[in-house]
Amino acid sequence: MCGIVGYIGAKEKKNILLDGLKELEYRGYDSAGIAIIENGELKHFKAVGKLKNLRDKTKKYSSSGFGVAIGHTRWATHGKPTELNAHPHLGEYSFVVHNGIIENYQEIKNELEDVGVNFLSQTDTETIVHLFEKNNTNLNNPFHAFKKTISKLNGAYATLLITEAEPESIFFAKNGSPMLIGFNGDEIYFASSDTPIIGKATEVYYLEDGEYGYAKNGEVKLFDSIGIEKEIIKKPLATDKKMAQKDGFRFFMEKEIYEQSQVMNDCMIGRVLDNRIEFEELDSNLFRDINSIKICACGTSYHSALTGAYLLERLAKIPTQVEIASEFRYKEPLLQKDTLFITISQSGETADTLEALKMANRAGLKSLTICNVDNSSIVRESSSAILTRAGIEKGVASTKAFATQTMVLWMLTLYIAELKGNISKDRLDDELHAIRKIPKALIVTDRLHDKIHRLSKRYLHGHGFFFIGRDIFFPLALEGALKLKEISYLHAEGYPAGEMKHGPIALADSELFTIALMPKSLHYDKIKSNVEELSARDATILAISPEEFELADDFIKTKYSSHAMLEFFEMMVITQLLALEISIRLGNDVDMPRNLAKSVTVE
Ligand code: M6R
Repeated sequence: MCGIVGYIGAKEKKNILLDGLKELEYRGYDSAGIAIIENGELKHFKAVGKLKNLRDKTKKYSSSGFGVAIGHTRWATHGKPTELNAHPHLGEYSFVVHNGIIENYQEIKNELEDVGVNFLSQTDTETIVHLFEKNNTNLNNPFHAFKKTISKLNGAYATLLITEAEPESIFFAKNGSPMLIGFNGDEIYFASSDTPIIGKATEVYYLEDGEYGYAKNGEVKLFDSIGIEKEIIKKPLATDKKMAQKDGFRFFMEKEIYEQSQVMNDCMIGRVLDNRIEFEELDSNLFRDINSIKICACGTSYHSALTGAYLLERLAKIPTQVEIASEFRYKEPLLQKDTLFITISQSGETADTLEALKMANRAGLKSLTICNVDNSSIVRESSSAILTRAGIEKGVASTKAFATQTMVLWMLTLYIAELKGNISKDRLDDELHAIRKIPKALIVTDRLHDKIHRLSKRYLHGHGFFFIGRDIFFPLALEGALKLKEISYLHAEGYPAGEMKHGPIALADSELFTIALMPKSLHYDKIKSNVEELSARDATILAISPEEFELADDFIKTKYSSHAMLEFFEMMVITQLLALEISIRLGNDVDMPRNLAKSVTVE
C-alpha cells in the first residue's frame, strides 16, 4: 500500500521522483519523502500528508548533473503518519525506502540497539538501513553489506537503498512486494508499478521474488535468490498510461477482481495478530455501554452490512440491525444512545449515508464508519473510522471494496466478541485460522476464469436471474444479482433460498436462470431442497458448490468447505467473474455502465 520510485541519471531528479510518486499516491498518502545524492552529497526532504506538501517543501530545490535518487509515498503500517516515520529512512550516511513488512524487525532492532544504534522512527523499515551500515562497517563493501542485510530479512519487501559509501549506485531487492526496473539508454528507473515510468523508460524488467542487485553506470547487475548472476530480459514498456493502469486487463473491474487477494492482505496487515484482532485506530471505550448496533449503507455497502449483521449477532452476540440509508432518513427512526451507529461506504461521499450519519450524530449516538477513502465526508463526520485499504476502485461496479468491507466487519465482530468476552478462545482461534486463508481463496486461477468465460455464453438471454442463498449467502446472492444487473442490464434478483416457495417460484421455467450458492459448511441440506424445488419446475440451475449436485444444468466446483467465510469469499469471486463475462459478451462498457456513477452524492 505504499509507492516507490528510484532514478539514476543526469536529468532533474526531484521532478522525476515527485511526478512518479504522484502516480502512486492513491496507494498511500499519509506522508512522502525523497532522498538524492549528487556530487557525493546527500539531500533529503519529507512531509506529512499528501504529496502536495512535499512539492511545496521542495519548491526551491532542484538537482542538476548525474545523481541517484529514491522516493516513497507512505501508507502507515508500523508507527503513526509522522515525518519521522516517513521514508526514506536515514542511517549515518545511507537512505532506504521500503514497501511491505519486515516481520522480524523487532528482533533485528533489539540486536542493533544492544550495540548502541539509535532509532528515530517506529517503523520496521529503519532496521534495514542500520543493519546495512553495521554490515558495511564490518565488510567495507556496500554491495556485500546489502546482500548480507537482505538475507536477514523475513517478510515481504521491495526496497531501494542509496549510500554515500558508493554514491553512484542504487541497491535493490524484491521479495513479495512488486518492483520493476525501467531502462532508457544510460538512465535507470525503479518503481513499484509501471505507471510512474511510462513515457520515461522504454524497456522494463519486472523483478521476481528473491532477486536483488545494484544499478551503476547505466548498468544493472541482477542476482537470483541463491546469489547466481542473472541475465536481464527486458520487455518493451507500454506507452499508453491508461492501458498500463489496467495492467493488461480489459477493464478496471477485471483488474480489481484480480487485485482482491492482495488488497485483502493490505486490509488485514497489523489487524490480524497471532491470537486476536487489533484495530489501532479504535478507542476501546467506543464500545463501552453499547448494547446494540445499527448499520446504515447503500448498494453494495448495504450488502456487506447485511453479511456483517449475521456475524455480529452470531459471534459477538450483539443485536444488530441493518438499514438502507435512503429509507432510514425518512422513517423517523427511534435512536437510542446505547446503539453504536456504523456507516459503510466505499467512497465516503454517498449523500444518503452521510445524511443518515448526521442524524445519528444529532441524536448523540457514537458513530463508526467503515470506508475506503480517508478524509472523505463520511470519515470526517464520524467519531471513528476503519479504513478498508482497498486502494482506488475505478470500476463503477464495486468488487474489492465489498470484499474488504466484509473482511473489516468480520474482524470487527471478533474484536467486539473478545472485548465483551463473548467468544471462546478455541472459536476465536478457528476464526483467525480461517481469516488467514482468505487472501489465497481470492486468487483467480486461469482455469476458473476460462470456465466462467465459457459458461457465460449460455446466460445472455432468458427472462431473468435469481441468485439464491441462505444465511450469509443471502446477502452474497443480493450482491451477485446487483453486480450482474449493473453491468449486463439483465434483470437479476437476489433472494433468500427458503423464500422462493412463497412467491417467486411461480416464475420458474427453463428461461429462468437460478444461480444457486450451495456452501457445504452452512445449511447445505436446506439449500439443496430449495434448489430441487426449482429444478422440479424446470428452472435452469447453475450450482456453485464444493459438492457435486446432479440436478445442476451447469456446475462450478469450489475448493473450500471448512469455514463459511472461506466459501463466501470464493463464491463472491465467481459471481463477480460471471457478471463480468456476461457483460463483456453483451458488448457493454463494464467500467462505466449506463445511468450509474461511482460516487452518488445526490439524494
Ligand atoms: O460509495 P458507497 O459505498 O457509499 O456507494 C454505495 C453504492 O452507491 C454503491 O455500492 C453502488 O451500489 C455500486 N455501484 C455497486 O457496485
